[in-house]
Amino acid sequence: MKIIMLGAPGAGKGTRAAVIAEHYKIPHISTGDIFRANIKEGTALGLEAKGYMDQGLLVPDELTVKILLDRVAQDDCRDGYVLDGFPRNIPQAEVLDRELDKLGDAVDYAINVDVSDEVIVDRMAGRRACLKCGATYHVKYVPPEKEGICDKCGGELVLRHDDAPETVSHRLKVYHEQTKPLIDFYEAKGVLKSVDGTGDVKNALKDIVDILG
Ligand code: AP5
Ligand code: MG
Repeated sequence: MKIIMLGAPGAGKGTRAAVIAEHYKIPHISTGDIFRANIKEGTALGLEAKGYMDQGLLVPDELTVKILLDRVAQDDCRDGYVLDGFPRNIPQAEVLDRELDKLGDAVDYAINVDVSDEVIVDRMAGRRACLKCGATYHVKYVPPEKEGICDKCGGELVLRHDDAPETVSHRLKVYHEQTKPLIDFYEAKGVLKSVDGTGDVKNALKDIVDILG
């Protein structure tokens, strides 16, 4: 099963993708997490990506597409994957389609996590992320068992650099201009599903199973 998560920054793509990956036993691939891991390791890719991410801009397609295609070519992706944060514009979606088409394959579902911009601004301030394993928490809505420590791997939880309010508003602008058109793109292909991103995270699995079966 090949699934794409669509939605604004902070809509809950990562939170829901993690649930999908666990339930359907497929890898959760977040381009944002791949970039953040590279930044943490101090790689050349990380250094280049950081400049764009900190400004709330998209990392150029030349860098992003190659990373994604290399990742989905790995063995653990044979039975599918859930993509979180890719594609993020029409050219990226077209490349993915072309590559899947070569394999006689296609995207099965694009799930749009629907949330208003106002809710997003509130969520970002409370988000905490684990830089080690990518798990996401919220100080109020999805707290870890022990403050500041990841439940899954014991890593330290941090506020992401790009969650500063000015950067969030820029990310939202980029989302509306470049990423939102993907909703119509996948609707036209007949694979679009929508989920209310303001529902309780505890029901995330039920919401998804209702859609995907
Ligand atoms: P990326 O890491 O993908 O960030 P994003 O799309 O901006 O999305 P977020 O990770 O911020 O939010 P999310 O939707 O995953 O929400 P989450 O589950 O955390 O990308 C970062 C940057 O990398 C980009 O700006 C760009 O520069 C670059 N990049 C990445 N991919 C790229 C690409 N393909 N091309 C070019 N550049 C790329 O939830 C948010 C918060 O809300 C959490 O605290 C969570 O606990 C909480 N929450 C979630 N659901 C609920 C709920 N139902 N109720 C209450 N709280 C909730
Ligand atoms: Mg995310």
